Amino acid sequence: MSLFIRAEAALEAHFKKAAGVGTPPRLEDAMRHAVFNGGARIRPQLCLAVATACGDDTPALTDAAAVALELMHCASLVHDDMPAFDNADVRRGKPTVHKAFSEPLALLTGDGLIVMAYQVLLQAGAAQPERLVELMRNLTDGVGIPNGIVAGQAWECETTADLAKYQRSKTGALFVSATCAGAIASGQSPKPWTDLGAFLGEAYQVADDIRDVLGDVASLGKPVGQDSAHDRPSSAQAMGLDGAIRHFDALIARAGQSIPDCACRDMLKQLVLSESERLVPKSMCQNYRQREAKVTQ
Ligand code: IPE
Ligand code: IPE
Ligand code: MG
Ligand code: MG
Repeated sequence: MSLFIRAEAALEAHFKKAAGVGTPPRLEDAMRHAVFNGGARIRPQLCLAVATACGDDTPALTDAAAVALELMHCASLVHDDMPAFDNADVRRGKPTVHKAFSEPLALLTGDGLIVMAYQVLLQAGAAQPERLVELMRNLTDGVGIPNGIVAGQAWECETTADLAKYQRSKTGALFVSATCAGAIASGQSPKPWTDLGAFLGEAYQVADDIRDVLGDVASLGKPVGQDSAHDRPSSAQAMGLDGAIRHFDALIARAGQSIPDCACRDMLKQLVLSESERLVPKSMCQNYRQREAKVTQ
C-alpha cells in the first residue's frame, strides 16, 4: 500500500469514528469539506515513512499520529483562509470553507478539527500511555506557541518579524512534528529525525513563496500573488527569485543528506525527491530562467 493510500484510508476511518452520530450536519459537512478535498497529505506521509524506517511496531498508533497531523494542518488552512486572515476564496481547487458554508461554520470547523486531532490520538494511544504523552507534546510543539503554527501566524500581526523564525514556526514546526511522530509512535527516539523535518519544512515554505510568484491558480488550487498583496515577508522578496530557487535546491539536498542510516533510506530519499519536483517543478524554473534571459538580452 502506498503511503498516500494508507494516510487517506486512516483519515477516512478516524474521521468517521470521531464524528460519531448526531454532529450538527452542516458542521460535519464543513469539516469533511476541509479534510477530504485533495490535499497532498505530505505531513502524514512523512510520519508513516519515518515510522516504517523505525519498525512501525504499533501501526494503529502510527496511523492515529499521521491523522492528527493532517487534521491540525487542515484546521490551520481553514482559519488561514478566513477573511480575518488571508481572505482566500479557493483552497485545493475548491471554494474555501467560509465561502462554501459561512464564517461561523469555518471558525467552528477549524476548532472542531483541532479537538478531533487530540480525540484521535487519545483513542489510539490509551494502550501506550508513554508514547501518547510524547505524541501529544510533539504535536503541541508543532501547532502552539512559542514556535508552532499559531506563533508563526501571529508574527504576521507584528510590525517586524525575523523571516527564518516566522517560516520555521508557520510551516517548519509541523514538518518536524511529522518526522518525529513517526519515530515516537514506533517507540524510538525522535532526535535523529528532526533535521529531515526541519530542512524539508524550510524548503516547503521557500517553495510556497516561489510558487506564489511563478505559479498559477489552476495548478496550485489556491490564489497566487498573496505575499506581495499582503506585504508579507517572503523568501522570493528577500533573496530574489533566483536566490530563492537556489536556496530551495540546497535545502532539498540537505534534507536528503540528513536521513539517518537505515533500511528505508532510499525510500525516504525518493519521497524527498518526488516532493521537490511536485513543489517546484524543474520545468517551471527553466521557463522562468528562459524568460529572464530574453529580458536581459
Ligand atoms: C499549504 O500546505 C500551506 C503551507 C503550509 C505552505 P500544503 O502545500 O501541504 O497543502 P495541501 O495540504 O497539499 O493542500
Ligand atoms: C498558510 O500559510 C499555512 C499555515 C501555516 C496556516 P500561507 O497563508 O502562507 O499559505 P497558503 O498560500 O494560504 O497555503
Ligand atoms: Mg496566511
Ligand atoms: Mg494563506
